Amino acid sequence: MSASILILGACGQIGTELTLALRELYGNEAVVASDIREGGEELMNTGPFELLDATDYTALEDVVMHYEVQEIYLMAAMLSAASEKFPERAWNLNMNSLFNVLNLAKEQKIDKVFWPSSIAVFGKHTPKERTPQRTIMEPSTVYGISKQAGERWCNYYHRKFGVDVRSVRYPGLISWKTLPGGGTTDYAVEIFHEALNQNSYCCFLKDDAKLPMMFMEDAIKATIQIMAVAEESISVRSSYNLSSMSFSPAELAASIQTHLPDFKISYDPDFRQEIAATWPSSIDDSVARKDWGWSPKFDLEQTTAIMLQKLKEKR
Ligand code: SER
Repeated sequence: MSASILILGACGQIGTELTLALRELYGNEAVVASDIREGGEELMNTGPFELLDATDYTALEDVVMHYEVQEIYLMAAMLSAASEKFPERAWNLNMNSLFNVLNLAKEQKIDKVFWPSSIAVFGKHTPKERTPQRTIMEPSTVYGISKQAGERWCNYYHRKFGVDVRSVRYPGLISWKTLPGGGTTDYAVEIFHEALNQNSYCCFLKDDAKLPMMFMEDAIKATIQIMAVAEESISVRSSYNLSSMSFSPAELAASIQTHLPDFKISYDPDFRQEIAATWPSSIDDSVARKDWGWSPKFDLEQTTAIMLQKLKEKR
């Protein structure tokens, strides 16, 4: 058996769509999906799948050897809100999976690594608008600390051992195929489901909690693009800022109301509002644009239209 790409956390919100996109691009057999649980029908039926715990180095190494894996996309992680509830588990999962993958690359068992960072690396002292690539980063959440530490380790493994690791700081991601889980930006997906289910949504963030967001297709495009460019194009070995749109819950609700005029939003902020309050409102991604030609396609209007359309078709 021979394949070249392994996705860890393939059944999650990003992993599902990334796996399908990579299979489309490189062929079904070339892309091995793996997760600690089975995923949706399309993912399970279109190519190889392995039940795999990304924190288990030996099991991971076995899969890498068996399929002759050259590239790993590490999408397994505990997100921000869940990590506040299970700090130790979050730290173990988020860091040990990264070390496993970086060490496989250091030992030259694989050639290339993709590992996502997040807007959660920033904190309340970071400039909020058009947050620069390099700036104050004092994350206050367990998740943010794990992502910031991960960024430094990626940079270290690149400098010290020549590991070809590439990374972007994803904003909140909006998708219709697989639900997110345990994140602070999850509201921006839930709201579409509830709009269609009951024409109303009670938001766990405040009406004006403006955050950087992105439609999944753009996030997948960025991921595939950064992995495909020549090594010399990558000047940032921690993680690249990535941006497409920013909006608040009130602005998202207004956008939904252009399709569903009777849609009602109410607000009952919980602990996730405190997390959101420490994150940027918008991101300056000019370094990614310059280095590897990043440019997003979807704005809020298009995202809303596609989300409502696709979720309706799915029902
Ligand atoms: N969307 C993630 C979260 O909310 C941030 O990376 O946790």
